[in-house]
Amino acid sequence: MSSDSGRLVVRPSEGLHGEVPIAGAKNSVLKLMAATVLAEGTHVLHNVPDLTDVTDMAELLSAMGLVVTREGATLTIERPADIVPEAPYELVERMRASIVVLGPLLAKVGEARVAVPGGDDFGHRPIDMHLASLESLGARFTSSHGFIQGRADQLHGTSVVLDFPSVGATENLLMAAVLAKGTTTIDNAAREPEIADLASMLNRMGAQVVGAGSSTIEIEGVAELTPVEHTVIPDRIEAATFLAAVGVAGGEVTLLGARADHMDMLIQKLGTMGMRISPTPEGVWAMSKGELRSTDISTLPYPGVATDYKPLLVAMLTVADGIGIVTENIFGGRFRYISELVRMGADIRTEGHHAVVRGIPALSGAPVRASDIRAGAALVIAGIRAEGETLISGAGHLDRGYERFDEKLRDIGVDVTRLP
Ligand code: UD1
Repeated sequence: MSSDSGRLVVRPSEGLHGEVPIAGAKNSVLKLMAATVLAEGTHVLHNVPDLTDVTDMAELLSAMGLVVTREGATLTIERPADIVPEAPYELVERMRASIVVLGPLLAKVGEARVAVPGGDDFGHRPIDMHLASLESLGARFTSSHGFIQGRADQLHGTSVVLDFPSVGATENLLMAAVLAKGTTTIDNAAREPEIADLASMLNRMGAQVVGAGSSTIEIEGVAELTPVEHTVIPDRIEAATFLAAVGVAGGEVTLLGARADHMDMLIQKLGTMGMRISPTPEGVWAMSKGELRSTDISTLPYPGVATDYKPLLVAMLTVADGIGIVTENIFGGRFRYISELVRMGADIRTEGHHAVVRGIPALSGAPVRASDIRAGAALVIAGIRAEGETLISGAGHLDRGYERFDEKLRDIGVDVTRLP
């Protein structure tokens, strides 16, 4: 099924209650899967979410000659001695995160041929930082016919200062530096929990990485890595989505397995908006009366409020009391869902990378289209507080990032149905 197909019908829902299990983090597992390229043998990943992005990454690894099998939430990846170091256009086009195979391929195989990712609703997303930082380790790149061709006889550790704490560039560099000769220092590194998860897996494979999760990462290259068994961290964006649902509907829900310490700034913001959220031994407990106060929001690299939370927060602000100014600092574009929210009666004005959201008591259900994963999630949140029926097309996008989304929502009391 393509991402553009599939529909969800959402009706107004109040008083959510119960428990919802949070799956492993999409943005972590895709990189952990790429990291298996670094060591021959059998790798085992636990807490792997069942997502089309994970299936696509498995397909990419299979195209390179690795063998990926799933049993429940466990993925076994056999990495043979010889692999084909190539990421075809068809797969990179489907999933931009495929670019993270570049670092591991150059470090382990010494060559890589990877299709250049195109644009998406986030606007044009360049890979210049990925290439420049790998070049500073000694890789050489040429590009032709839509492909980047990379070569590296032996990578050498060096000091790299990133222009911006790019998540993908930090990950590519990290996965290349673990097998480089000597020491690599990454300054202005991305600090996302997913980077720390990747470093912890690499360290279990025998790498020597210190400081991941802070803005300076130091990597002492080693000659060889060994296969690993690793458990993926919980998905903070999935958790944020259920928090947003509780926020607009009201109620009391526990997010099983979620980590409050990965969502500090978000939890603070939601507290300002009137929610009560605290960590428990099982995960994160959240309570809302369904009456939200507006607040201003500015997206920033971690530990700031993540850009991926933004569509959810905008959906919450559409029904909050007052005016919220939302500023996007990570990506240009990424506003297409706003015109869909406006079709539902939301009062939102955009100017450059700012949006001004004036809250109204309730939205009005309408047919709308999801343009990407988080846009789709925002429309579901909006539908919970919209009179009548909200029919969301393009719901297949949600399957890229959410496991059993409608089922989990129904379990806590959201009136949502999936149509073909
Ligand atoms: C990852 C996440 C995405 C999240 C984003 C920011 C995955 C699969 N995706 O994307 O969900 O929204 O982090 O938290 O993990 N940039 C350049 N040149 C580069 C690389 C990036 O200019 O070579 C720019 C981008 O255009 C963007 C900014 O840097 O404006 C941040 O992008 P980056 O952190 O790299 O995001 P991704 O890793 O692509």
